[in-house]
Amino acid sequence: MNLLLEKLHGTLTALELTAADAGLAAHLERAGKEEPSYAQFLCDLLEEERTARQDRVLATRLRVAHLPYQKTLEQFDFAFQPSIDRRQIRELETLRFVQEASNVILLGPPGVGKTHLAIALAIAAIRGGSSAYFATAHDLGVELGKAAREGRLAEKLRVYLRPKVLVVDEVGYLPLDKVGATIFFQLISARYERGSIVLTSNKSYGDWGEIFGELTLASAILDRLLHHSTTINIRGESYRLRERRKAGLLPGGARERPPGAEEAATP
Ligand SMILES: Nc1ncnc2c1ncn2[C@@H]1O[C@H](COP(=O)(O)OP(=O)(O)OP(=O)(O)O)[C@@H](O)[C@H]1O
Ligand SMILES: [Mg+2]
Repeated sequence: MNLLLEKLHGTLTALELTAADAGLAAHLERAGKEEPSYAQFLCDLLEEERTARQDRVLATRLRVAHLPYQKTLEQFDFAFQPSIDRRQIRELETLRFVQEASNVILLGPPGVGKTHLAIALAIAAIRGGSSAYFATAHDLGVELGKAAREGRLAEKLRVYLRPKVLVVDEVGYLPLDKVGATIFFQLISARYERGSIVLTSNKSYGDWGEIFGELTLASAILDRLLHHSTTINIRGESYRLRERRKAGLLPGGARERPPGAEEAATP
């Protein structure tokens, strides 16, 4: 018996069925008690391997997605942001937007959950079998600008073109210089109708000229970005402020807003 087990161990290892190998002893013990059919035994053992592999792939995809934190749609309190149309979110949850290479644009003042939702959509896409990558607009500008100076732009652009879903966070917090804006345009053009972009911004579309330094470029970017897209315009209170108020750091009752929050972004 021991010889047979050793042989089995060697075979499972050679086939790289590591989870099945690790679970073999427990499965054999249970089989001794429950006496399942041969097919059931094999099915249970291989199912363990399959689950472990799926978990490994998921963990790898999450790691390479470069997410600043992990938050899901289940963790989002929609009752706190009634301006968000739940039907829109449910539609996005189907991940049709990923298949159609359509974009999602989340607009709104600070703290209303733009990044949370962008990350949650990226995680949903990853769970659905797609790849995702997260970058802030600033990091993207710096990275691609550096690559352009070093003559490696095409190579570096590939990092942002490969994933099925690219999150570009915080468009508009920092203005882009001319080179940054041109590279940003190149990126949007290259992903157009090929891969989804989930973008967040505190600026309404009318103010995008300021971000990119000139209206023509901003229009060309918006034209491509919005052609196949869903805009989620959040007009609400900052969740961060609510948490601080709950912690007693702000006067209770008053619906305090950060400066500029009144002018919620409008498309
Ligand atoms: N409705 C919500 N339910 C649960 N958590 C929320 C909600 N809105 C925001 N949060 C949490 O509050 C924090 C701030 O949200 P988030 O970072 O998504 O804001 P933001 O809109 O991206 O703000 P900023 O423009 O400043 O980047 C995060 O920890 C996020 O998980
Ligand atoms: Mg944010």
